Amino acid sequence: MFISFEGIDGSGKSTQARLLADALRAQGLSVLEVREPGGTRLGEEIRALLLDPGQDVDPRAELLLFSAARAHLVASTIAPSLEAGEVVIADRFFDSSTVYQGAGRGIANPRWLHSLHEFATSGLSPSRTYLVDVPADVAAARRSPEADRMEAAGQEFYQTVRAAYLDLARAEPNRVLVVDGMPAPEAVHTLILSDASRLLAGG
Ligand code: TYD
Repeated sequence: MFISFEGIDGSGKSTQARLLADALRAQGLSVLEVREPGGTRLGEEIRALLLDPGQDVDPRAELLLFSAARAHLVASTIAPSLEAGEVVIADRFFDSSTVYQGAGRGIANPRWLHSLHEFATSGLSPSRTYLVDVPADVAAARRSPEADRMEAAGQEFYQTVRAAYLDLARAEPNRVLVVDGMPAPEAVHTLILSDASRLLAGG
Protein backbone atom coordinates (compact mmCIF):
# COMPACT_ATOMS: atom_id res chain seq x y z
CA MET A 1 0.00 0.00 0.00
CA PHE A 2 1.17 3.48 -0.89
CA ILE A 3 0.63 6.26 1.68
CA SER A 4 1.69 9.90 1.38
CA PHE A 5 1.91 12.74 3.89
CA GLU A 6 1.27 16.33 2.95
CA GLY A 7 1.15 19.68 4.72
CA ILE A 8 2.82 23.08 4.72
CA ASP A 9 6.38 23.36 6.03
CA GLY A 10 6.20 23.20 9.84
CA SER A 11 2.91 21.27 9.91
CA GLY A 12 4.52 18.24 11.54
CA LYS A 13 3.94 15.89 8.58
CA SER A 14 7.50 14.49 8.62
CA THR A 15 7.17 13.57 12.31
CA GLN A 16 3.87 11.86 11.55
CA ALA A 17 5.31 9.95 8.58
CA ARG A 18 8.09 8.63 10.81
CA LEU A 19 5.74 7.71 13.68
CA LEU A 20 3.47 5.78 11.29
CA ALA A 21 6.42 3.95 9.71
CA ASP A 22 7.74 2.97 13.15
CA ALA A 23 4.31 1.77 14.31
CA LEU A 24 3.71 -0.35 11.21
CA ARG A 25 7.20 -1.86 11.47
CA ALA A 26 6.46 -2.74 15.10
CA GLN A 27 3.47 -4.70 13.76
CA GLY A 28 5.87 -6.71 11.59
CA LEU A 29 5.20 -4.97 8.28
CA SER A 30 7.96 -4.16 5.83
CA VAL A 31 7.93 -0.38 5.34
CA LEU A 32 9.88 1.85 2.95
CA GLU A 33 10.11 5.55 3.86
CA VAL A 34 10.92 8.09 1.16
CA ARG A 35 10.99 11.87 1.05
CA GLU A 36 10.36 14.27 -1.79
CA PRO A 37 12.28 15.75 -3.32
CA GLY A 38 15.03 13.24 -2.61
CA GLY A 39 15.12 9.59 -1.74
CA THR A 40 17.65 8.75 -4.46
CA ARG A 41 21.08 10.15 -5.29
CA LEU A 42 19.66 12.06 -8.26
CA GLY A 43 16.71 13.23 -6.17
CA GLU A 44 18.91 14.49 -3.34
CA GLU A 45 21.00 16.46 -5.83
CA ILE A 46 17.85 17.98 -7.34
CA ARG A 47 16.65 18.73 -3.78
CA ALA A 48 19.86 20.59 -2.98
CA LEU A 49 19.45 22.71 -6.13
CA LEU A 50 15.79 23.46 -5.43
CA LEU A 51 16.24 24.43 -1.78
CA ASP A 52 19.44 26.45 -2.20
CA PRO A 53 18.54 30.07 -1.32
CA GLY A 54 21.31 31.16 -3.70
CA GLN A 55 19.49 29.73 -6.75
CA ASP A 56 17.08 31.81 -8.77
CA VAL A 57 14.73 29.18 -10.24
CA ASP A 58 12.06 29.96 -12.82
CA PRO A 59 8.69 28.57 -11.54
CA ARG A 60 8.21 26.34 -14.61
CA ALA A 61 11.71 24.94 -14.21
CA GLU A 62 10.91 24.43 -10.52
CA LEU A 63 7.81 22.37 -11.36
CA LEU A 64 9.70 20.26 -13.88
CA LEU A 65 12.59 19.62 -11.48
CA PHE A 66 10.25 18.47 -8.70
CA SER A 67 8.51 16.25 -11.27
CA ALA A 68 11.82 14.86 -12.54
CA ALA A 69 12.88 13.92 -9.00
CA ARG A 70 9.48 12.24 -8.51
CA ALA A 71 9.69 10.29 -11.78
CA HIS A 72 13.08 8.91 -10.81
CA LEU A 73 11.96 8.04 -7.28
CA VAL A 74 8.87 6.19 -8.51
CA ALA A 75 10.73 4.18 -11.15
CA SER A 76 13.79 3.32 -9.09
CA THR A 77 12.39 2.91 -5.59
CA ILE A 78 8.63 3.20 -4.99
CA ALA A 79 7.30 0.95 -7.77
CA PRO A 80 9.70 -1.96 -7.08
CA SER A 81 8.97 -1.75 -3.36
CA LEU A 82 5.18 -1.82 -3.92
CA GLU A 83 5.61 -4.76 -6.28
CA ALA A 84 7.48 -6.58 -3.51
CA GLY A 85 4.44 -6.09 -1.27
CA GLU A 86 5.91 -3.45 1.02
CA VAL A 87 4.14 -0.47 2.53
CA VAL A 88 5.57 2.74 1.09
CA ILE A 89 5.30 5.95 3.11
CA ALA A 90 6.17 9.11 1.19
CA ASP A 91 6.87 12.43 2.91
CA ARG A 92 5.27 14.52 0.10
CA PHE A 93 4.17 13.38 -3.36
CA PHE A 94 2.46 15.00 -6.35
CA ASP A 95 -0.02 16.99 -4.24
CA SER A 96 2.95 19.13 -3.14
CA SER A 97 3.49 20.18 -6.75
CA THR A 98 -0.22 20.87 -7.24
CA VAL A 99 -0.37 23.24 -4.27
CA TYR A 100 3.15 24.76 -4.13
CA GLN A 101 3.78 25.21 -7.85
CA GLY A 102 0.22 25.12 -9.20
CA ALA A 103 -1.44 27.35 -6.59
CA GLY A 104 1.49 28.94 -4.70
CA ARG A 105 3.48 29.95 -7.76
CA GLY A 106 0.27 30.21 -9.80
CA ILE A 107 1.74 28.68 -12.92
CA ALA A 108 -0.46 25.76 -13.93
CA ASN A 109 -4.08 24.72 -14.18
CA PRO A 110 -5.37 21.49 -12.59
CA ARG A 111 -6.00 19.65 -15.87
CA TRP A 112 -2.50 20.29 -17.09
CA LEU A 113 -0.98 19.35 -13.72
CA HIS A 114 -2.95 16.11 -13.68
CA SER A 115 -1.38 15.08 -16.99
CA LEU A 116 2.11 16.00 -15.78
CA HIS A 117 1.69 13.97 -12.57
CA GLU A 118 0.34 11.01 -14.51
CA PHE A 119 3.31 11.14 -16.83
CA ALA A 120 5.91 11.52 -14.05
CA THR A 121 4.50 8.70 -11.92
CA SER A 122 3.36 6.36 -14.74
CA GLY A 123 -0.11 6.70 -13.23
CA LEU A 124 0.83 5.78 -9.65
CA SER A 125 -1.24 7.48 -6.96
CA PRO A 126 -1.25 7.03 -3.16
CA SER A 127 -4.14 4.98 -1.77
CA ARG A 128 -4.26 7.32 1.21
CA THR A 129 -2.89 10.82 1.74
CA TYR A 130 -2.78 12.36 5.22
CA LEU A 131 -2.98 16.13 5.05
CA VAL A 132 -1.59 17.43 8.35
CA ASP A 133 -3.28 20.80 8.63
CA VAL A 134 -2.23 23.77 10.74
CA PRO A 135 -2.67 27.54 10.17
CA ALA A 136 0.19 29.22 8.31
CA ASP A 137 1.28 31.30 11.33
CA VAL A 138 1.49 28.20 13.56
CA ALA A 139 3.60 26.39 10.98
CA ALA A 140 5.89 29.42 10.60
CA ALA A 141 6.52 29.49 14.36
CA ARG A 142 7.45 25.78 14.27
CA ARG A 143 9.98 26.13 11.44
CA SER A 144 13.68 26.70 12.01
CA PRO A 145 14.66 30.37 11.56
CA GLU A 146 16.98 29.48 8.66
CA ALA A 147 14.59 29.51 5.71
CA ASP A 148 15.44 27.44 2.61
CA ARG A 149 14.58 28.81 -0.85
CA MET A 150 10.95 27.56 -0.73
CA GLU A 151 10.39 28.77 2.83
CA ALA A 152 11.62 32.25 1.92
CA ALA A 153 8.40 32.74 -0.09
CA GLY A 154 6.58 34.31 2.88
CA GLN A 155 3.31 34.04 4.77
CA GLU A 156 0.91 34.92 1.96
CA PHE A 157 2.38 32.09 -0.13
CA TYR A 158 1.79 29.62 2.71
CA GLN A 159 -1.78 30.83 3.20
CA THR A 160 -2.43 30.17 -0.50
CA VAL A 161 -0.77 26.75 -0.29
CA ARG A 162 -2.76 25.75 2.79
CA ALA A 163 -6.05 26.81 1.15
CA ALA A 164 -5.12 24.83 -1.97
CA TYR A 165 -4.44 21.73 0.16
CA LEU A 166 -7.87 22.04 1.78
CA ASP A 167 -9.52 22.48 -1.67
CA LEU A 168 -7.73 19.36 -2.86
CA ALA A 169 -8.99 17.38 0.15
CA ARG A 170 -12.55 18.50 -0.63
CA ALA A 171 -12.11 17.45 -4.26
CA GLU A 172 -10.73 13.99 -3.41
CA PRO A 173 -12.32 12.97 -0.10
CA ASN A 174 -11.81 9.25 -0.69
CA ARG A 175 -8.04 9.61 -0.88
CA VAL A 176 -7.12 12.71 1.13
CA LEU A 177 -7.84 12.71 4.87
CA VAL A 178 -7.40 16.03 6.66
CA VAL A 179 -5.86 15.57 10.09
CA ASP A 180 -5.78 18.46 12.54
CA GLY A 181 -2.09 19.08 13.25
CA MET A 182 -2.68 21.23 16.36
CA PRO A 183 -2.88 18.51 19.07
CA ALA A 184 0.23 16.84 20.52
CA PRO A 185 2.11 14.62 18.01
CA GLU A 186 1.12 11.40 19.82
CA ALA A 187 -2.57 12.27 19.62
CA VAL A 188 -2.32 13.08 15.90
CA HIS A 189 -0.43 9.82 15.38
CA THR A 190 -3.13 7.77 17.14
CA LEU A 191 -5.74 9.03 14.68
CA ILE A 192 -3.54 8.32 11.66
CA LEU A 193 -2.54 4.86 12.89
CA SER A 194 -6.13 3.82 13.43
CA ASP A 195 -7.09 4.90 9.91
CA ALA A 196 -4.04 3.22 8.33
CA SER A 197 -4.60 -0.01 10.28
CA ARG A 198 -8.20 -0.14 9.07
CA LEU A 199 -7.10 0.39 5.46
CA LEU A 200 -4.34 -2.22 5.72
CA ALA A 201 -6.85 -4.70 7.11
CA GLY A 202 -8.85 -4.11 3.93
CA GLY A 203 -11.58 -2.02 5.59
P1 TYD B 1 10.25 19.24 2.90
O1 TYD B 1 10.98 17.96 2.75
O2 TYD B 1 8.92 19.22 3.54
O3 TYD B 1 11.15 20.31 3.65
P2 TYD B 1 11.97 20.17 5.01
O4 TYD B 1 13.05 19.16 4.82
O5 TYD B 1 12.45 21.58 5.17
O6 TYD B 1 10.96 19.72 6.04
O7 TYD B 1 10.04 19.89 1.44
C1 TYD B 1 10.96 20.65 0.81
C2 TYD B 1 10.32 21.86 0.17
O8 TYD B 1 9.97 21.58 -1.19
C3 TYD B 1 9.04 22.33 0.83
O9 TYD B 1 9.12 23.75 0.97
C4 TYD B 1 7.96 22.00 -0.16
C5 TYD B 1 8.65 22.04 -1.47
N1 TYD B 1 8.05 21.18 -2.53
C6 TYD B 1 7.42 21.79 -3.61
O10 TYD B 1 7.32 23.03 -3.67
N2 TYD B 1 6.91 21.00 -4.61
C7 TYD B 1 7.00 19.64 -4.58
O11 TYD B 1 6.53 18.97 -5.52
C8 TYD B 1 7.66 19.03 -3.46
C9 TYD B 1 7.80 17.53 -3.39
C10 TYD B 1 8.17 19.84 -2.45
